[in-house]
Amino acid sequence: MKRPISVLFATSEARPLIKTGGLADVSGALPGALRSLGVDCRLLLPGYHNVIDGVINPREVAHFEHIPGYGIVRLLEATMPGSGTPVYVVDYPWHYLRPGGPYQDTHGKDYPDSAWRFALLSRVAALLSGPTSPLDWHPDIMHCHDWQTALAPAYLRFGGGGAASLVTIHNLAYQGIFPPDMVEPLGLPAASFGIEGVEYYGNLSFLKAGLFYADWITTVSPSYALEIQQPLNGMGMQGLLTDRQAHLTGILNGIDTTDWDPASDPHLPHKFSQRGPAGKKRCKQVLQADLNLDPKAEAPLFGIISRLTHQKGLDWILQIAENLLAQGSQIALLGTGDALLENAFRGLAASHPGSVSATIGYDEGLSHRIEAGVDFFLMPSRFEPCGLNQMYSQRYGSLPIVHATGGLKDTVEDGVTGFVFHEAAPHALWHAVQRALDTFADKTAMRRMISAAMGKDYSWEKSASAYAGLYDSLVL
Ligand code: ADP
Ligand code: GLC
Repeated sequence: MKRPISVLFATSEARPLIKTGGLADVSGALPGALRSLGVDCRLLLPGYHNVIDGVINPREVAHFEHIPGYGIVRLLEATMPGSGTPVYVVDYPWHYLRPGGPYQDTHGKDYPDSAWRFALLSRVAALLSGPTSPLDWHPDIMHCHDWQTALAPAYLRFGGGGAASLVTIHNLAYQGIFPPDMVEPLGLPAASFGIEGVEYYGNLSFLKAGLFYADWITTVSPSYALEIQQPLNGMGMQGLLTDRQAHLTGILNGIDTTDWDPASDPHLPHKFSQRGPAGKKRCKQVLQADLNLDPKAEAPLFGIISRLTHQKGLDWILQIAENLLAQGSQIALLGTGDALLENAFRGLAASHPGSVSATIGYDEGLSHRIEAGVDFFLMPSRFEPCGLNQMYSQRYGSLPIVHATGGLKDTVEDGVTGFVFHEAAPHALWHAVQRALDTFADKTAMRRMISAAMGKDYSWEKSASAYAGLYDSLVL
């Protein structure tokens, strides 16, 4: 019998242990879906507190003494809680055991030594995928995600090769850019600092290194795979990505349909489903009460759950908010991020008590209750590599209102499961919102769209098969 393909899935976050965004959802679910298809997929994570404390049965399986710039780095093997997926943990307390988040300290400031922290993660990924690995397990594929692990294909290349390498771009806006004088301390050959290498406009870019040296590149939706080859969304990498287009594929993310199932979701006060949607109305009532919104069933309720960044187009929502509220609508926001946006939404809530609620912070339970309790979900992102919330929204019968970009364009059917606008401007968002309000006034049309949205299948199986097919083609 053919040996199953083995994959080292190197990532800087994975649910349920550590999450700042969609990458964690993907890293938490895709490895399990791949394992169900017979792929021997194992995670590699940094040993943050939550990881060391949260993995099951961690034990030391190797250590590295000779990585320049670091002391002894221990490697633990364990399993992920819930899924049981095997996970390797880079245990290096000096870099990873900190009170803040994975990338920022408790004040929201980027750690000053992130280059060292994620070069180490990349380096260990490459060591485990190359000829000198201390493990008995040798991956066929080293699958890296975003800039934090994107230096690994470069290390693998300069360390003598090994597994086939794949880099998945979850967001091209984050590139891991550091001064050029970091190249040699991080153990990269000086000659790699050039256009044909790790250099990006005079600096070192981890992501550029991955995009240049990896055998294959994927990104998280077919539309985004095309958009990043253009100047508008290419973030300066469009030239390289166009050169590499024969080795670039868009594979749409799935969603975890167990975590996100309104029929069994433990966070919801009432359960519901496509066939039995009544509980959704009750979820709206409870949400309005919990968030101090006026208890009006007939008020259209718009949800927002987001990192508060320029990418997400939230300033367009602020521009249409007064008009929207003047029509009797309500807004429930949950998010954290840029102080300006946080304050703007706090201000909107303060000036519209009973109509706007702004929860500034991170709250997983509330994110589920908002998805369940709202009528519409606003996601007017300027660009969106894939986006998960528009898929969660459809499954929870909350019609998404989205900009036609990236994964939003690939997952929302205009007028069928949500509302899509094309021009990147607030008036186009407003027009889509008006169409949503017209639909809200027509109970039959609303019911039809909710049912169509809830019937969409975004489970991981399809995407996992696409990744498995790609892995196969890379080891042939
Ligand atoms: P991105 O990764 O760009 O932030 P995605 O839509 O892919 O966007 O994924 C965001 C994930 O993070 C979703 O699971 C969403 O529910 C979650 N999320 C974002 N902000 C919050 C928050 N403040 N509280 C709870 N969950 C959040
Ligand atoms: C990124 C993107 C988002 C995508 C997620 C998971 O954070 O911004 O669109 O869904 O990664 O791939």
